[in-house]
Amino acid sequence: MKILVTYKIPFYEEVVESLKESVTLGKINDLDETYGGMLCLLTDKITKEVLDKGKNLKIIANYAVGYDNIDVEECKKRNILVTNTPCDEVNEAVSEFTWSLILALARQLEPAANFAKNVGYRGWEPDIFIGTDLKNKTLGVIGAGRIGSIVATKAAAFGMKVITHSRTSNTKLEEVILSADVVSLHVPLTPETRHMINSKTIFKSGAILINTARGPVVDESGLLELLQNGSLAGAALDVWENEPYPRPELIEMPNVILTPHIASATKSARLAMGKTAVANLVAFSLGQTPPNLI
Ligand code: GLV
Ligand code: GLV
Repeated sequence: MKILVTYKIPFYEEVVESLKESVTLGKINDLDETYGGMLCLLTDKITKEVLDKGKNLKIIANYAVGYDNIDVEECKKRNILVTNTPCDEVNEAVSEFTWSLILALARQLEPAANFAKNVGYRGWEPDIFIGTDLKNKTLGVIGAGRIGSIVATKAAAFGMKVITHSRTSNTKLEEVILSADVVSLHVPLTPETRHMINSKTIFKSGAILINTARGPVVDESGLLELLQNGSLAGAALDVWENEPYPRPELIEMPNVILTPHIASATKSARLAMGKTAVANLVAFSLGQTPPNLI
């Protein structure tokens, strides 16, 4: 089976070794009827039109945990298997990065660091960059999957209480958000979660929002309103509604941190993602059920 790999992913040689001569490194546009498998990125939009070109595709291994870039329903109709890359290394990397953002936002790390490097620090002053402490505050975790659960576990280190909301829990989304000092999103992007956070969302006074899930879970124009009228004290967004284009107004706000979709960007996570994606392709080519079937 010929396999198209759409990007020279980190640790490429090591990762694709077990697929050997069946692999072609190319672009999504190179997809044609000669390919039976594909390893693609979350920036590859796998639409009906793309699937029409890959007439003989049998399996798509997405190099990501989220798979909202793929028309999974259409793949099902065409009997194309889709797999993703959930793994401990990614869960840890994303949850550690989530905490980096929480701490950075609570303590004004970005404006303070910029001030120190660029503006001219005159000596210790008691009243600059005063932040919020986390101890005894409440973390609201939205989505209680693997990543959300690990984020919640780490809250104990900071003496925070945790409340969670998920599709299957009996807590109400509105109540969790209203009671949390820090709201962190860990849901997949689906029609139900799109714009889950919007101008009508009511946050606790002084609350901050963290998004390391998918940009469109937050309606950014609504978010902007909440930030501008003080209903939300700050936001840290690793994912945006229209990547790679940040909403211009957000760039200007000192209480907003924008990072370029790097929550899973650690060496061990990238290596594990590659190995997981390839393991799914290998299992399929051996006639086995791929371990991370969606
Ligand atoms: C990254 O965003 C992923 O879904 O793995
Ligand atoms: C701060 O640097 C202090 O010593 O209180």
